[in-house]
Amino acid sequence: MKMKELLLFLSCVLCVSADALHSDIAINGCSDSDGEKMFGLDGEELAYADFNKQEMIYPLPPFIDPFTYQEGTYEAAVANLQICQQNLKTVRVGMKDFPPKHNAPSAVMIYTRDEVEFGEKNTLICHVTGFYPAPVNVSWTKNQQKVTGSSINVPYLNKDGSFRQTSRLQFTPQLGDIYRCAVEHLSLTEPLTKIYEVEASAHSDPGVGPSVFCGVGLTLGLVGVAVGTFFLIKGNECS
Ligand SMILES: *[C@@H]1O[C@H](CO)[C@@H](O)[C@H](O)[C@H]1NC(C)=O
Repeated sequence: MKMKELLLFLSCVLCVSADALHSDIAINGCSDSDGEKMFGLDGEELAYADFNKQEMIYPLPPFIDPFTYQEGTYEAAVANLQICQQNLKTVRVGMKDFPPKHNAPSAVMIYTRDEVEFGEKNTLICHVTGFYPAPVNVSWTKNQQKVTGSSINVPYLNKDGSFRQTSRLQFTPQLGDIYRCAVEHLSLTEPLTKIYEVEASAHSDPGVGPSVFCGVGLTLGLVGVAVGTFFLIKGNECS
């Protein structure tokens, strides 16, 4: 696989409102074979262009007041993709190929969306961040067998210029099952993997430990206040 083909050329616009209450982002990027157009708000993906389905996708859940961008947004994204790919060619010639800049993912995290209940549908999340260039590939196994049906969002830009992506897999927790997400990136010779094991402890209630801990802490605190008050009064009497 040629490195050049994967090199993702990215330009992005970051607009922060004057009082920095909200942060709005538009990402425009491409490689020779791929591209991205995404609009985000406060770290959430509002919409992105799906160049296979040939339409804008609005991934937010339905409890958000539904909205759409004006007609022609997808067509504009396609035009931007062509411009980006043209720029990529020009810049590559002009700069006699880009200096290689690769950062492997700085973190891969695996966790469940909801608290684990055996036999209750849940979602496994594999969150990858800190990589450059985008994208990463994420694949899943269950008990060492490949599983399909996972989804991944388009790359989102971090403040430091690196990217993050999140892959999701629907699953039903069964005691002892072992899930693994494997992350591929241009900078890695072999995939980074994280393991999630469905354990009995996931379900057990925390017992009396926390209440005892809280009780002892509270008692010590109250004793402290009482002793402090005692010496305060004593001190005042003496003077
Ligand atoms: C991701 O997978 C695609 C399809 O298998 C492959 O062409 C591409 O090189 C992979 N990308 C990375 C970063 O490994």
